Amino acid sequence: MIKDFIGNTPLRREDYLSKKYGTNILIKEEFYNPGKSSKDRAAWFMVEDAIKRNKIVEGGTFVEASSGNTGISIALIAKELGYRSKIFVSASCSDEKIKLLKSYGAEIERCDNSNGLHVFNSTQYLAQAFCTNNPNTYFTNQYYNSNNIKAHYITTGPEIWQQTNAAVTHVLVGVGTGGSISGIGRYLKERNPGIKIWGVEPKNSVYHLFMDNNPIPEEEVRFDAIEGIGRTFIPGAFDKQVVDHIFQIGKDKSEVIAHQYLEECGDLLGFSSAAVLATLDENLERMNLKETDQVVLFFPDHGSRYINKLYQDFYPQPQVKENYNASI
Ligand SMILES: Cc1ncc(COP(=O)(O)O)c(C=O)c1O
Repeated sequence: MIKDFIGNTPLRREDYLSKKYGTNILIKEEFYNPGKSSKDRAAWFMVEDAIKRNKIVEGGTFVEASSGNTGISIALIAKELGYRSKIFVSASCSDEKIKLLKSYGAEIERCDNSNGLHVFNSTQYLAQAFCTNNPNTYFTNQYYNSNNIKAHYITTGPEIWQQTNAAVTHVLVGVGTGGSISGIGRYLKERNPGIKIWGVEPKNSVYHLFMDNNPIPEEEVRFDAIEGIGRTFIPGAFDKQVVDHIFQIGKDKSEVIAHQYLEECGDLLGFSSAAVLATLDENLERMNLKETDQVVLFFPDHGSRYINKLYQDFYPQPQVKENYNASI
């Protein structure tokens, strides 16, 4: 049963980064989920809730508005449980994700933007309209579905708490719908209100305005394109009460950090994971981290989903490790 394999992902101490930043850096590796991203958690909770409440019957179609990862998770879970899926994706969705969605059997609808339910031609508007006009369909609506937050409150938050033996001091999370940061933050703040919950959004996204009680611009804002994070509106899945601060990070800096990480640590960072690491790198002094702190970086997916977008023609020189021991 797919449910049994969702969550309980590793929390890995990253020695290289810990040394570089003078604190304990722990990486929550969400690409170990069956759909290869953190979105399996929210997708499972939303699908299970709809089925339990008889909102859809077998053979019906789950519908979602997604830049890719939630769509992939919905498609995977729907197929396993005997349902269809139809995913409304924004124009910026990577080719890798589109191909993945199709291979999981999802029907794809490309849309102009993902600027919210109230904006004509957005993924959300068209997904909702489709469900209104077609029987036995269900719009999981990750932006406004409380099960999105609940998934992380019930699973991710407790995992981080247990995996750090209650010693976690900071969590850095990219913010898209807000479900991950809100669920993780709500759980951890209940355990220890002193834990810092820090969000990361691309330059010109609007969450930081909301945090500071500033108005959200009426006209369309254009934020740096970092897949999976950033918004032009504030979704219902974002709970400001459990977030201490939202940092803004540039796309360019995130790209530089992704390449640096590949050279130094030999692995491919997902785009929003690179944004999280870039935020740490850019704000290290201001963050005032202690040697004994336990800083969790939430990595929602893996760089193999962004070869074309992030690593096109970037091939680092192979590094020979100092302590390499040829005898196996
Ligand atoms: C790669 C990636 N990073 C970050 C996020 C943001 O997570 P959340 O929607 O829970 O805020 C998403 C969401 O789709 C994502 O796909």
